Amino acid sequence: MRVLSTKELRKEYLDFFKMHGHSVIPSASLIPDNDPTVLFTTAGMHPLVPYLMGEKHPAGKRLANVQKCVRTGDIDEVGDATHCTFFEMLGNWSLGDYFKVESIKYSFDFLTKVLGIPIEKMAVSVFEGDSDAPRDEESAKTWQELGIKKENIYYLPKENNWWGPAGMTGPCGPDTEIFFIRDQDSCSSECSPACNCGKFVEIWNNVFMEYDKQADGTFKPLKQKNVDTGMGLERTVAMLNGCESVYDIDVFAPVMKLLREKSNKGDEYIREMRIITDHIRTATFMLGDQKGITPSNVDQGYVLRRLIRRSIRFLRTLGLDNAVLAEISKAFIDIYAPYYSELAQNEHKIIEELNKEAEKFGKTLEQGLREFEKLLKYIQNKRISGKAAFKLYDTYGFPLEITIELAKENGIIVDVEGFEKAFKEHQAKSQAGAQQKFKGGLADNSIETAKLHTATHLLNAALRKVLNDDSIQQKGSNITAERLRFDFSFSRAMTAEEIAKVEEEVNRIIAKGLDVVCQEMPVEKAKKSGAIGVFDSRYDANVKVYSIGDYSMEICGGPHAANTKDLQSFKIVKEQSSSSGVRRIRAVVGKQS
Ligand code: ALA
Repeated sequence: MRVLSTKELRKEYLDFFKMHGHSVIPSASLIPDNDPTVLFTTAGMHPLVPYLMGEKHPAGKRLANVQKCVRTGDIDEVGDATHCTFFEMLGNWSLGDYFKVESIKYSFDFLTKVLGIPIEKMAVSVFEGDSDAPRDEESAKTWQELGIKKENIYYLPKENNWWGPAGMTGPCGPDTEIFFIRDQDSCSSECSPACNCGKFVEIWNNVFMEYDKQADGTFKPLKQKNVDTGMGLERTVAMLNGCESVYDIDVFAPVMKLLREKSNKGDEYIREMRIITDHIRTATFMLGDQKGITPSNVDQGYVLRRLIRRSIRFLRTLGLDNAVLAEISKAFIDIYAPYYSELAQNEHKIIEELNKEAEKFGKTLEQGLREFEKLLKYIQNKRISGKAAFKLYDTYGFPLEITIELAKENGIIVDVEGFEKAFKEHQAKSQAGAQQKFKGGLADNSIETAKLHTATHLLNAALRKVLNDDSIQQKGSNITAERLRFDFSFSRAMTAEEIAKVEEEVNRIIAKGLDVVCQEMPVEKAKKSGAIGVFDSRYDANVKVYSIGDYSMEICGGPHAANTKDLQSFKIVKEQSSSSGVRRIRAVVGKQS
């Protein structure tokens, strides 16, 4: 097996696919175009969705690249040996050109001939089949013909062997995943790539994208059969180098060394060092992205803020000051600028924003930590109240997640709902008349839009009930501070009686005074519990589910009213056609005049 650096593996991969007729395309921005359901680019295919759907790509039907990706679903796992929030994905695509057999052969040749991985160290999984798509015998047969032993070919269900879509709808399909088998004496013969025993390290995923997932959860055949593959650069280099952890590979080594030397601390602080290293690398790529993000309290900017503030917190744990932030970031800029010229171009901005954020948070961090210590003394029921968590957020700049983390370290929990309530009350006071900002169907985070958002969930449930049609799907939502607009699939105009019934239904639930409850859970669990509005991304695994009694349960980002009573009353002002098979309702909440 060859021992390659990240630089060498990048080059070998692209050279191999160039040799096989692929055009090398540049990495797209970390912020996806035209997909408000996902904050970051999570895979190389994400920017290619229109071409997987059938649009012609200017560079041809065979593409390859190295795509910068961010996945924050596993952020709590960062600090262990394998998880990172940013990574580079090596990918090759066939847009309606070659399919399963050729794709598998390319992967096999690259792994065995270019990288020199012995066949007996390789295992693969293929899709076992279900009512949406057949068992993938073709892939299994191809692997076997190439020399992979039958016992190293695993048939697994959708949960393991299906990828996509990246957002809520779009291209997806069964996949075949390739694993490196590590020597693991503790494993039994029952172990498979589906368990987390550590024996099987996934290095490459070949997705056969021939389906288009619809908003109603069904799968339609795509116009063309595509291949979408992804190999984790960092993980594969770690494996080729026999590293125990990805943090031991060349791109991280200088930063880990710097942290060790400056702090004069060792492995007892390895988790903190890895978190700092990971988070600052991700922050550097976000700040330096071609679409440049800056720290803020919403959307991508908030994720960035959390990453920087969390790094600062852990730098303090290591006894280091904020100057180290810029030093680490500069190290990453130097490492990556040869491949991502935007980092060099934006170097000034990256460092300036990091320093600005460090200065802001640095001022209040110590005070906030003291406040937290005080809280610990007076705490009741092992629970930090929403109000106290909000004070830490508002006065000391502690993102809620940092408070939760600190609480966890002390064996206590945080009243998250209470926090959200305090947050909304505060916003209602300070944001009255705030400028409208349209984002993903939500105008702003004011209390009015939060109420209308909750009304939208009630309306969605009421329509299904009154029209006695569970196949009704949300087709669009737009909320301003004054009204909601809701588009849904339904083939005819509603009668006056039906409209009145829907209003009655929603008002009945409002009058019940039900709490709007938010829970975070893995996407699979959300689906199983019957939540609608499926956000099918395997990697942003935790989703927020908002429930209103047993009346409504939807996957959604929020924010919402705390209780249905806050809506006071609900009125439909218009019902009309939106497009073929889609109706549009405009409605308002509040005291009706
Ligand atoms: N899009 C596929 C993945 O991310 C290749 O695994």
